[in-house]
Amino acid sequence: MSTETKRSYSPGLAGVAAGETAICSVDPNSGLLYRGYDIHEMASQASFEEVASLLLKGELPCAQELAEFQKQLAAERELPKPVLELLRLMPKSTHPMDMLRTGVSMLGAFDNELNDNSHAANVRKSIRLIARVSTLVTDGWRIAHGDDPIPDKPDLTHAGNFFYKLTGAVPQTWQTRMLDTIFVLYADHEFNASTFAARVTASTLADIYAAVTSACGTLKGPLHGGANEESMKMLDDIKTPERAEGWLKEQLAKKAKIMGFGHRVYKKGDSRVPVMREIARDLGKRLGKEQWVPICENLEKTMEREKQLCANVDLYAAPVFTMLGFPPELNTPTFAASRVSGWCAHVVEQHDHNRLIRPISLYVGPAERPYKGVSKNGAK
Ligand code: COA
Repeated sequence: MSTETKRSYSPGLAGVAAGETAICSVDPNSGLLYRGYDIHEMASQASFEEVASLLLKGELPCAQELAEFQKQLAAERELPKPVLELLRLMPKSTHPMDMLRTGVSMLGAFDNELNDNSHAANVRKSIRLIARVSTLVTDGWRIAHGDDPIPDKPDLTHAGNFFYKLTGAVPQTWQTRMLDTIFVLYADHEFNASTFAARVTASTLADIYAAVTSACGTLKGPLHGGANEESMKMLDDIKTPERAEGWLKEQLAKKAKIMGFGHRVYKKGDSRVPVMREIARDLGKRLGKEQWVPICENLEKTMEREKQLCANVDLYAAPVFTMLGFPPELNTPTFAASRVSGWCAHVVEQHDHNRLIRPISLYVGPAERPYKGVSKNGAK
C-alpha cells in the first residue's frame, strides 16, 4: 500500500533541472555558451582542440597548453591492436555507431587507469577517449569496407586527421576548417540525452568508458544524434526545392515525425542552425550542389507555417556531411567524434561532485492484490 499521496511528474523529464553544471548552458531563446563563451564566437574563431580543452579543464588553454593538448591527442590516437581485431570480427553490415559503442567498451579494458575516477586520471582518460573515438570511427569504416587503417599524421588537427584517416587523402585547408567548425558546434549541449545517460552511468561510480559506452548507445537514436542520418535520407527523397512543401505536407498529414525539426529546449530556433546553414551554403557554392539549402529553407518555411516548429542543427548537418564526402551512416559517428569531448567533461564533473542519479517513477499498474499464482511453496 502506498504511503505517499502525490509525486510531481514531468513526462520525459521536460523542464526538470536534473543537476548542476558549469560546462555549458542552453538558453531556450537561442543562446548556447561553453563555459560562458558564445558558440558563435567559438565557431568563427576557436579550434575544436581549444574547445575540448576548455570543456574539460574549465578555461581556454594558452598557446603552450594548447600545443601540449594537441601533442597528447596525437600520442593517443592509435588503437590497441586487439581493438582493431575486434573491428575486423564484426559483420560488414554493422552500423558504424554500433562499432563505435562496442569499440569504446573494449577500449576500457586496455586502459590501466580504468578504475581510477580521480579528477587527474579522468582528464587523462578523456584525452585518450577524444583521440580514439575518432579513430574508432575512421578505422572502423575502412575495415568494414575492406581497407586497412592508416596511421595518423601528427601535424594535422583533430578534424584534419578525421578526414585523412577516413579517406587516405590530406584534406584542403578549407575542408579541415569546416569540419573543425562543425566539431566546435557539436561539442556539448548540457543535459542532452546522451550526456545525461553518461552522467547517470558515471553517478554509480562506474568508469568513464562505461559512461561513454552508454552515451554512444543513446546518441544513436533518431530522436537524438541519429536524426542527422535520417535527415539526409529525407532530403535525398525530396530531391528538389520545389518538392519540399508538398512532401512535408504529405508527411505531416500522416502524422510523421520530421527529422531535423523540433527541440526539447529551443523553442525559437536552435542557435547552431545559422552557422551550419552558412557552411551548407558555402559548400554548395564551392561544389556546385546548391539544391540542399533551398530544400531545407522551404522545409523550414512550411514547418513554421504548419506546425510552428523550428529546424534543429541536424537538418543542415546532413547535407553538410554529404557535401564533405561522408556517407549518411557516418553522420552520427562524426557527431560523436566531437560530442565525446562534452561527454567526458560531464563525466569528470559528475565524478568530482558525485551524487547518485536515481529518480522515482509514478506507478500506474494494478493496485495491491493477493497472490493467486499456481506455485504454493515457492519456485521448484
Ligand atoms: N515533426 C513533427 N512533429 C513534431 C516534431 C517533428 N520533428 N517535433 C515535435 N513535433 C510535435 C509533436 O508531434 C508534438 O505534437 P502534439 O502536441 O500535437 O502531439 C509537439 O510537436 C511536441 O513535440 P514533442 O515530441 O512532445 O517534443 P519533445 O520535446 O518531446 O521532442 C524532439 C523533442 C527533438 C525529440 C522532437 O522535436 C523530435 O522528435 N524531432 C525530430 C528528431 C530530431 O530532429 N532530433 C534531433 C534533435 S536536436
